[in-house]
Amino acid sequence: MANSANEIKRVVSRAITDARKEIGGIPEPPSQAKLKWPIQCTVGPGLEGAIACESQVGFVNGSQGSLVYRGYDVLELCGHSTFEEVSYLLIHGRLPTEKQLRKFERKLADFRRIPATMRLLMGFPVEKMNAMSAIRLGTNMMRQEFTHLDEMEAKRDLETAISTDEDSIPMEVPPLGEEHAIYEFRKGKIARTAKSEKAMAEAAGIASAAHLVAGTATITAAVARIREGLLPLEPDPELSHAGNYLYMMTGRRPTAAEERIMDIALILHADHGMNASTFASLVVASTLSDMYMSISSGIAALNGPLHGGANERVIQMLEEIGGPEKVRAWYKKQKAEGKKIPGFGHRVYKRYDPRARILGPIAKHLTGRSAGAKRLLETAQELEKVVIGDLGPEKGIYPNVDFYSGLVYSCLGIPSFLFTPTFAVSRVAGWTARVLEYMKNNRIFRPRAIYTGRTNKHYVPVEGRKS
Ligand code: ACO
Repeated sequence: MANSANEIKRVVSRAITDARKEIGGIPEPPSQAKLKWPIQCTVGPGLEGAIACESQVGFVNGSQGSLVYRGYDVLELCGHSTFEEVSYLLIHGRLPTEKQLRKFERKLADFRRIPATMRLLMGFPVEKMNAMSAIRLGTNMMRQEFTHLDEMEAKRDLETAISTDEDSIPMEVPPLGEEHAIYEFRKGKIARTAKSEKAMAEAAGIASAAHLVAGTATITAAVARIREGLLPLEPDPELSHAGNYLYMMTGRRPTAAEERIMDIALILHADHGMNASTFASLVVASTLSDMYMSISSGIAALNGPLHGGANERVIQMLEEIGGPEKVRAWYKKQKAEGKKIPGFGHRVYKRYDPRARILGPIAKHLTGRSAGAKRLLETAQELEKVVIGDLGPEKGIYPNVDFYSGLVYSCLGIPSFLFTPTFAVSRVAGWTARVLEYMKNNRIFRPRAIYTGRTNKHYVPVEGRKS
């Protein structure tokens, strides 16, 4: 393990320089003019190509292979920023002043302590649960700790919600758009008490975003410890968000280098366009559910192996291959069986994923000192060469963020069952930022399905049915 944060800084700035050399010649797309809804676009299966909303949170430039948060290149943020600052940037829309940053850091430090959630979580068989579902459970308990919503029957006045129920509208006609269909978490009458109104507002706003950013790390670290038969740890107010995450998970204060690597990994995963988990969060928010419910949907969507679950499968794959000399034969067999290679390909990037450009060199730096890890890295590097050689320019298949993140996490001592949860610890910043943005102009999501079944069948009583 590298023992100096300066060494990491050097590795990252070299990776940034190399990345810029390769990205540099590719032209920027023109910035988008404001859309006039409704818009025409070509939609493929899985809503590919569909435009869900406008956003200023972040931009994935798939043809260039670059990623921008609120106008700032993620590579530059990796070189200079921290996860706390990036979270502020995503949620508030601008970089904080020094005073604002210190205040936000104090707020996160405060929100990192979630004793009521911990007490409730310990009552569940967390050690037997899938880590992502335990974290979902934890974030729902945070909702209760922060808002007491579960104790209340605070329901929105139906009058304000009725026109969001688009099933009551004959939808199988082209959508026309509703002029007044703007719904916010906080808008409309809230039945019951002032206390419940305050709770609903808290569950919807910036405070709950910061609460979730801070608390998801605490819950994830606790889940890791409980699964190992250990008691959860209180956060250390002296440590950063990344440092606390590692400390609460391992019980050991990380070195400055480990803390910085974790910080960079969190920055790199914080937001990524209209991906499946972000979209899931927005869909739930759009029904006027609350921030906690929305984020728990994001966690559920991230769990799948086509999304956040790929990095765990990458390590399993590298172990299964067994060494760089076995890569070609292994790949040939996978290809013949029509199998996809975990950690490669992306719906948007048709070039090298910029996040992998940083994580690859960090993995290389970290794995140098352990023979086992070095062999995994060499296997990964050989696989990268073979896959790009076969599918790179022709099909736009290159390593994605998950290809090297697992190796980096392993070197930081993060067990593989926590790889996807660690992704959630970071992405919660992007999910909350985008939910807050979407809710300013909310319209319930309601795409259509084309019904291709029959409509003229007649009911046959069970005893008369043939198998
Ligand atoms: N290995 C080999 N071939 C691939 C891969 C891959 N990993 N990914 C795509 N392809 C090929 C497909 O076979 C297909 O080939 P064809 O045109 O001959 O049929 C072509 O590239 C297009 O593939 P699609 O599956 O249509 O691409 P899509 O955009 O739908 O999928 C996805 C993107 C899901 C990420 C896909 O590349 C994949 O399954 N990758 C492996 C899993 C993975 O790494 N997921 C993490 C993604 S990053 C993230 O979510 C954080």
